Amino acid sequence: MAVISTPPTRIKAIDTLEIREGLDGLTPSRIIMLYRRAPLLRPASDPASVWQMFERSSLVLTAWHERQLVGIARVLTDGVLNSYLCDLAVEPDVQRLGVGKKLINTVIERCKGTDLVLRDSDISSGFYAHLGFKRVTNAWVRNCR
Ligand SMILES: CC(C)(COP(=O)(O)OP(=O)(O)OC[C@H]1O[C@@H](n2cnc3c(N)ncnc32)[C@H](O)[C@@H]1OP(=O)(O)O)[C@@H](O)C(=O)NCCC(=O)NCCS
Repeated sequence: MAVISTPPTRIKAIDTLEIREGLDGLTPSRIIMLYRRAPLLRPASDPASVWQMFERSSLVLTAWHERQLVGIARVLTDGVLNSYLCDLAVEPDVQRLGVGKKLINTVIERCKGTDLVLRDSDISSGFYAHLGFKRVTNAWVRNCR
């Protein structure tokens, strides 16, 4: 599928940031392009699979600056005990300007009362530590593919 959105160029500050809930404005190609640019490494390059991931999620938040998609957060939650932050990605031209923090704070609001769990990477562990997340040693992962 062709990529249709034009990436923004590096800016110094974000004055207006709109956070939307849901799939409004998203397309598989926009998601894939943002993930590649962030970069957020996911085994998801097939547009139909990517769209299924989003349609089946409990919570999708998008961040918009001057009508450009600049961030995405995607969550699975039971709304009572457990929430899993599947993906968080911010457009590189606006990283370190508060977009990721705004998305995480909105996720925390929406997932109030639950434990929010995630898998980090070398480039993002400092971000999560800075925002008050605690590293755990009792998590297990089993590949079911
Ligand atoms: C990680 C990521 C989501 C952070 O988003 P961001 O918009 O750049 O971060 P913010 O500007 O909101 O940063 C919030 C705070 O964390 C700090 N911070 C950001 N990245 C950091 C890092 N890697 N290490 C330490 N602190 C960091 C900021 O300085 C800021 O501090 P402040 O509130 O005291 O000013 C973004 O860099 C990204 O998309 N990275 C690539 C994809 C990725 O790794 N996603 C997460 C994997 S699950």
